[in-house]
Amino acid sequence: MIKIQRLGHATIETPELERAVEYHQQLNGLNVVGRDGAGVHLATKVGQLAMTLVEARHAHCSRLSFEVAPGADFTAYAKELAAAGISSQVRSDPFPGTPQVLTFNDCDGTTIDLFREWKFHDADARGGGLGPLKLGHMAFFAPDVQRKVAFYRDLLGFRVSDWIGDHFVFMRCNTDHHTVNFFQGDGPRLHHMAFELRDFSHMQQCCEILASLRIRIGWGPLRQGPGHNIAVYHRNPDDQVVEYYCELDQMKNEDLGYFDPRPWHEDRPQRPKVWEPGAWTSGWGTPPAPGFMRN
Ligand SMILES: [Fe+2]
Repeated sequence: MIKIQRLGHATIETPELERAVEYHQQLNGLNVVGRDGAGVHLATKVGQLAMTLVEARHAHCSRLSFEVAPGADFTAYAKELAAAGISSQVRSDPFPGTPQVLTFNDCDGTTIDLFREWKFHDADARGGGLGPLKLGHMAFFAPDVQRKVAFYRDLLGFRVSDWIGDHFVFMRCNTDHHTVNFFQGDGPRLHHMAFELRDFSHMQQCCEILASLRIRIGWGPLRQGPGHNIAVYHRNPDDQVVEYYCELDQMKNEDLGYFDPRPWHEDRPQRPKVWEPGAWTSGWGTPPAPGFMRN
């Protein structure tokens, strides 16, 4: 069975490529590690590929890469996908530092690239910007959220961490509470992208950098209910929501089946569950600015 281990990077289409590159350099401190026919590739300060930006008519997240185990058998994976009616192909040198991927589309047409080998790019902490630890999760609207859950659970090995009602799901592929989110809605469309920060002092630095760049915070800082992460949100120049977070719930032992206990948990232990929309009480922070959560 395909078993995804972590999110690699996202390919984001943008109508103003150089503006988007500048945004990620200035605010996030991402470094350009390559420019080619596939787009402009950016890595974190520690050298992990986080984003490929591609010029296109509309802002859109067109593909996601995920790491699988080093010895993963792409031939066996391709057979599994074919048995489910999904065609795939092996591609060579698709992204800087990634020699090979297995490429296919998910049930809504978002392209997935699985990789099993990769290289760090040169670490470069000289530039300014925030320096998030990683691209942590991606959230999408999906026209049939149950079908999407079945695809990511049954074919890619994700587990459901939490639901809000029956319309909003959090799915994990490692210890992080969620690596992908899906909302019932017209799609596929990006709802938000999220970068992990070290801690709350890093989040304060984030707010200072946003202010210095005259970028308005749309929501937060706050502590969420599901996932219990501290988060702050803004909109990027393409009007997409970007989240920074820290203190996300961790399930370090799947056999035990609960998230590492924290003082702010509602349940002891905190297990995956269905949350009633808006009903959690342990979170803190103010509601989003008017209009911020428009889609
Ligand atoms: Fe999020």
